[in-house]
Amino acid sequence: MMKIIICKNYEEMSQTAAEIVAKQINSNPHTVLGLATGSTPVGMYKNLVKMNKEGKVDFSNVVTFNLDEYVGLDKDHPCSYHRFMDENLFNHINIKRENVHLPNGVAPSLEEECKAYEKMIAQAGGINLQILGIGHNGHIGFNEPGTPFHSLTHVVELAQRTIEANSRFFNSPDEVPRKAISMGIKTIMQAQKILLLASGKDKAEIISKALHGPVTTDVPASVLQLHPNVTVILDEDAASAL
Ligand code: GLP
Repeated sequence: MMKIIICKNYEEMSQTAAEIVAKQINSNPHTVLGLATGSTPVGMYKNLVKMNKEGKVDFSNVVTFNLDEYVGLDKDHPCSYHRFMDENLFNHINIKRENVHLPNGVAPSLEEECKAYEKMIAQAGGINLQILGIGHNGHIGFNEPGTPFHSLTHVVELAQRTIEANSRFFNSPDEVPRKAISMGIKTIMQAQKILLLASGKDKAEIISKALHGPVTTDVPASVLQLHPNVTVILDEDAASAL
């Protein structure tokens, strides 16, 4: 079942998303959250920080697992997703550091790291609510087109378009890592609930394909049509091709 909420703009999308996350945490203080990076969820994180400061949501028992991390960047690298999460969320809320998880992009064995990450998610009882953004080619996490639906946490080769899109966070495209560790499609689909966010005209076409097109590995996000509990929050621009 897919519920689609269309908001006026990015601010309204961000606030709506933050309220859903807060409601989840308030109904289960031990919520296991799956988190995403990218520009899209930044506004939602800002709202959650504000709500946490105002005492409207308490992260002290919340556990988080991020979708992905670049291979080769340690957690303090300015462009790592770990650092991104620290700066946009974790440094500003009352979450316990030991409850925060991201794949380790500099693990001595990436294969072992993937297995261990998957195991940790299972040991935490699975993800209650997974936040997702969407890439222009339909990727979720770093699961690029062609990724099998049965994939678990794995090492991925980034698509050229993804490297170009993400180069805005680096000095030049040459500095963007070519690989990442990402939760797999199956890992994502095992979450109890999923919240997909998208804003802007440049996401309109892929959102239409993902929500209403055929379910195919060519458009990884189309798999969400098979999930029992997905909420999609769009701004008017991202919803303009629906
Ligand atoms: C990145 C991330 C994804 C994210 C997507 C869209 O590569 N790995 O998790 O959803 O691209 O990013 P943005 O929200 O900046 O458009």
